[in-house]
Amino acid sequence: MTADPVFRNARLVTMAGEGMGIIERGAVVVAGGRIVFAGAENDLPTGLAANEIIDCEGRIVTPGLIDCHTHLVFGGNRAREFEMRLDGAGYEEIARAGGGILSTVRATRAASEDELVASALPRLDALMSEGVTTVEIKSGYGLTVADEAKTLRAARRLGTLRSVSVLTTALGAHAVPPEFAGRSGDYIDHVIAEQLPALVAENLADAVDAFSEGIAFSPEEVDRLFTAARRMGLPVKLHADQLSNLHGAALAARHGALSADHLEYTDAEGAAAMARAGTVAVLLPGAFYFLREKQLPPISAFRAAGTRMALATDCNPGSSPLTSPLLTMNMAATLFRMTVRECLAGFTREAARALGKLGEVGTLEAGKWADLAIWSVESPAELVYRMGFNPLHQRIRRGQ
Ligand code: NIG
Ligand code: FE
Repeated sequence: MTADPVFRNARLVTMAGEGMGIIERGAVVVAGGRIVFAGAENDLPTGLAANEIIDCEGRIVTPGLIDCHTHLVFGGNRAREFEMRLDGAGYEEIARAGGGILSTVRATRAASEDELVASALPRLDALMSEGVTTVEIKSGYGLTVADEAKTLRAARRLGTLRSVSVLTTALGAHAVPPEFAGRSGDYIDHVIAEQLPALVAENLADAVDAFSEGIAFSPEEVDRLFTAARRMGLPVKLHADQLSNLHGAALAARHGALSADHLEYTDAEGAAAMARAGTVAVLLPGAFYFLREKQLPPISAFRAAGTRMALATDCNPGSSPLTSPLLTMNMAATLFRMTVRECLAGFTREAARALGKLGEVGTLEAGKWADLAIWSVESPAELVYRMGFNPLHQRIRRGQ
């Protein structure tokens, strides 16, 4: 462990409070991996002689980015289905014909844990190269006790192979596996009685997720799963209202979900219910773009209701093969008309909130982990404005 650093001569974008919390000539002091001071250089505490001083040369410093919704661990890829869609096939059509999520299930079941780790590492490295210091990783392409456990073990291992915080989510209720074809209710019983207890026993799941949709699970099935998950002490979140309005947002809110994600078809009542429950809206412009969706998520209803909005890559092989948080922010601005402030909050403060980790990460404030991204740009807007360019100068996790 090197000496605790002090970052000086930085333009801090602390994201503290409701705005961007900009401090023009700022400094961050680290002790034991945590921030002990983030503020104006003029207010720097005295007696820092033992610290290593790092001159940021006027660069922008933000909290380390947080990708709060990914399916980073999976076997194979779906380039062939992408070609089929270019020839006119629909996403739901391919899924109903046994492709889609189920084709990735076959490839994931065939892969060993080592192979899953090896194929996920380049994707994780791509996220980290753009300043990501915390990432959520879902299962959901195994759909048996053994294959879901294998996926989440691979996810946990990624967090030991790289300097990044990994949070895992059990998404057994992602699709009905072939063994349960036509018996989605029985499969939910299996997830409740077998999968979740096994994953909890091995401490493999930090949360539980489900996919509520015509091609996946009904609201009633999700309701049953969430009731059981919460009894096991696990927070819940939901893939909701992506392709149709099954009132998933309101369902998630009723269960006090950390987040409801996608939300293209959510209505104003759903948005208001989420705001009241403190359920974060995780918007996924990569999937919207890649599936060429037409229905925009109700951004103005979220703003009006005061629903918190986060952003994530949704990195997955079928609907969002995306490993760039910067491009995701640009898409959110261009496609959803989200502001620069909303985009940056979406990958920092609000993403931390969506993971239940706002007390630990997501803003530059004393007491939190010293997870920072230092950017060679002059304004926060530049991080959202450019496409396919990475201005990251340095990524710091826990002060290192
Ligand atoms: O978040 N919506 C459901 N799940 C993934 C896509 C899964 C897939 O197509 O492999 C998503 O978009
Ligand atoms: Fe997803």
